[in-house]
Amino acid sequence: PNPHLSPGTVPSAAAPPLPTSRPRRLRRTPGLRNLVSEHRVHPANLVWPVFVKEGLREPREISSLPGVMQHTRDSVRKAAVEAAQLGLGGIMLFAIPEHRDAIGSAATTPDGILNAVTREVVAEVGDALPVIPDLCLDEFTDHGHCGVPRADGSIDNDATLARYADMAVALAESGGDVLGASGMMDGQIGYVRSALDAAGHTDTALLAYAAKYASAWYGPFREAVESQLQGDRRAYQQDPANATEALREIDADVAEGADIIMVKPALPYLDIVRAAAERVHLPVAAYQVSGEYAMITASADRGWIDRKAAIVESLTAIKRAGAGIIASYFAPEAAHLLR
Ligand code: PBG
Repeated sequence: PNPHLSPGTVPSAAAPPLPTSRPRRLRRTPGLRNLVSEHRVHPANLVWPVFVKEGLREPREISSLPGVMQHTRDSVRKAAVEAAQLGLGGIMLFAIPEHRDAIGSAATTPDGILNAVTREVVAEVGDALPVIPDLCLDEFTDHGHCGVPRADGSIDNDATLARYADMAVALAESGGDVLGASGMMDGQIGYVRSALDAAGHTDTALLAYAAKYASAWYGPFREAVESQLQGDRRAYQQDPANATEALREIDADVAEGADIIMVKPALPYLDIVRAAAERVHLPVAAYQVSGEYAMITASADRGWIDRKAAIVESLTAIKRAGAGIIASYFAPEAAHLLR
């Protein structure tokens, strides 16, 4: 007779076999769970994206990203020092210029806000913290697109490449360690790599936003950079329905000389993160974007989910999927939680 059957249960002729596999054995205590944990997020895995606005006098909170600031030139340097002290993996810089035009002129002038802030942040943190300015025109154009438009409004790929090359050289001259190529123009990694090398910046690394989807999750970022986007980005960013073209994009960026491959957004695209990790012999990054931050923050603010648990779980899931580097607005908070 099976002693585990509850009283009153009529034993059948042959008692059902007891489990031969008991995964719960290793989940019993905190110590055992700690012993068998496969993936851990470390502060060094985290890159912190920050915003700096030209002419701003006081740091200002972004309403759709509670807790995330538009920084002044002064406060962004302090943020970089904080990032270094927390042992974060890097800091990504996005800048909002005072003046925008059709070709994003302010992106390439040496005294433009992003170049100036890159110099100032690099001077502050030195070699302790990789500084990753964004290499894209959308913050600098009055139409909000990532490139140069033709008369009909479509984005001219090859004219945009020339602008990216100039911007990349300017950012490298400002001391950026890694340039975040987020524009999704064809051939941008190879084109920018050649321009950097020709200008003597062979050591400036390229973080390729290889698989970047045209995503609704970028909503709060548009507020953060005060985007005046006309239309949408579907003629250059990827269709969320497609996985195969992500592989094509990743292969192209590897062939063109990318140093790090990124998938963006993160949580809705973990299948792509996994595919990238299995495909390339480069560091793989994923970007937990503004809408992902906003979702967690908004529901936690309503008491619907546990903020701290959701932060750690989401970052752990992204790492488990294969991203060794995670860009996240939660980076400093997560570094505290992970201690
Ligand atoms: C474009 C860029 C965007 C983001 C990062 N770089 C916006 C876009 O592509 O529309 C979004 C990041 C986020 O939502 O957190 N340079």
